[in-house]
Amino acid sequence: MRIEFVQIDRENPPGAGAVAAAVFEGPTLSAGAGDLDKATHGAVDHATRAGRFNGGKGQSQELLGPRGRENIRVALIGMGAAGDWNEEAAETFGARAYAALKTCGSTALALLMPEVSAEEAARAAFGATLASYRFDRYRTTEKPDKKPSVQTVVVSVDDPAAAKAAHADLACLAEAIFFSRDLVSEPANILHPEEFARRVKALEPMGLEVEILGEAEMKKLGMGSLLGVGQGSRRESQLAVIQWKGGGDAQPIAFVGKGVTFDTGGISIKPADGMEDMKFDMGGAGAVAGLMHVIAGRKAKANVVGILGLVENMPDGDAQRPGDVVTSMSGQTIEVINTDAEGRLVLADALWYCQDRFKPQFMVDLATLTGAIIISLGNDYGGLFSNNDALAENLLAASKAESEPLWRLPLPPAYEKQIESAIADVKNTGGRPAGSITAALFLQHFVNGTPWAHLDIAATAWRKSGTIPTSPEGATGFGVRLLNRMIKDRYES
Ligand code: BES
Ligand code: MN
Ligand code: ZN
Repeated sequence: MRIEFVQIDRENPPGAGAVAAAVFEGPTLSAGAGDLDKATHGAVDHATRAGRFNGGKGQSQELLGPRGRENIRVALIGMGAAGDWNEEAAETFGARAYAALKTCGSTALALLMPEVSAEEAARAAFGATLASYRFDRYRTTEKPDKKPSVQTVVVSVDDPAAAKAAHADLACLAEAIFFSRDLVSEPANILHPEEFARRVKALEPMGLEVEILGEAEMKKLGMGSLLGVGQGSRRESQLAVIQWKGGGDAQPIAFVGKGVTFDTGGISIKPADGMEDMKFDMGGAGAVAGLMHVIAGRKAKANVVGILGLVENMPDGDAQRPGDVVTSMSGQTIEVINTDAEGRLVLADALWYCQDRFKPQFMVDLATLTGAIIISLGNDYGGLFSNNDALAENLLAASKAESEPLWRLPLPPAYEKQIESAIADVKNTGGRPAGSITAALFLQHFVNGTPWAHLDIAATAWRKSGTIPTSPEGATGFGVRLLNRMIKDRYES
């Protein structure tokens, strides 16, 4: 989608195409809606009094060809109390305006935004962009009238140059989120570990350094835990190591992603119903890849490492069995009770490798790790676990600021009992009680005391219905925004 910022002509609102303006509860017209009202001889005000519309949050009202502006179609977007208007609200406004008018037939959508700040105008454009995400690569017969017609969003503002400047970083962010959403949306026959690695390697021209380790190299490093998971797959497991060096000689900060390109469960095979969802079991790696994309895109002044553990979990004559014992790179042995608890096995070696090689200030891992996190937090929160309160606080603050909510859960030492093995140092499942917590406790065995946080994004990496305007059904890119924000606010001078 194209974004343009243009100088608003308040006396003369658009005479053709799709137009959107905000209305607050009352109803009270925003400045843009007021301009349109004048040009249409009171038609906008009239429409805001029709039926139940009163400018409340979530409401919208369309009007077609009002007097004086016969060739426009208007969406009035109800925004709730005028006092609630801020950058976040502006983002929602842009997203909802796009959703309301995307298939109306016009190729351009005008957002009337006089008397708003440059930052708010930029956020409206960002919201419209996020709402426009579609993964339609494999649709060859879609009827043209089902496809969105809007290709350009024209934001009419008092100071287009300032809005454009405020939008630059957001444009990088949107591109990165789309990169992440595309990875997560791809079916697993297309996006296997080597293909994922190729797509990350292709980011090198942005200034990222990308190394890809294959199975032979990982074997040399002793990554028996990660390699065990990929053992049943025809596809070669990969470890992608991505570096952005924008922070001089500062110690790097590091992000580690679970990249299970498909999770059948392995020999502990999953039921058929819903197994297709497990193409998004690389959502953690997808988020880290998106994060590295935005870091490079906006040339962040920080040293950032991204590590992706890329494997496919398949049943096979060569696959690992329940009861197998593997030796991780850390030297700790792991009894594999359930081959479907594979994400933690992948992360065990990826985390150990990360701290061993980079000695980072901290590590954050992202993983679609447990079904239990969906049970405990529902679909709107990611689970946060950390051995470091300051890091946890930073993540929570960033998560609030970017509307990617996290909720912290504890790491009680007493629950370690649940993952004690009779024959190895640790086992990979802890039974039903506190399943997300015992998974996190397992990971903690492999961080070697490094400040660390784990984000369980099993519930938030994918949306089954489009209830958040900026996040249509499907891959969300959850994590990219909040981590980018944390880096921007805390780790760049
Ligand atoms: N990838 C799944 C977790 C998952 C479930 C992600 C639903 C997204 C949606 C993970 O590998 C898994 O299978 N976890 C098991 C662990 C259990 C065997 C201890 C689970 O949650 O059931
Ligand atoms: Mn699994
Ligand atoms: Zn999994």
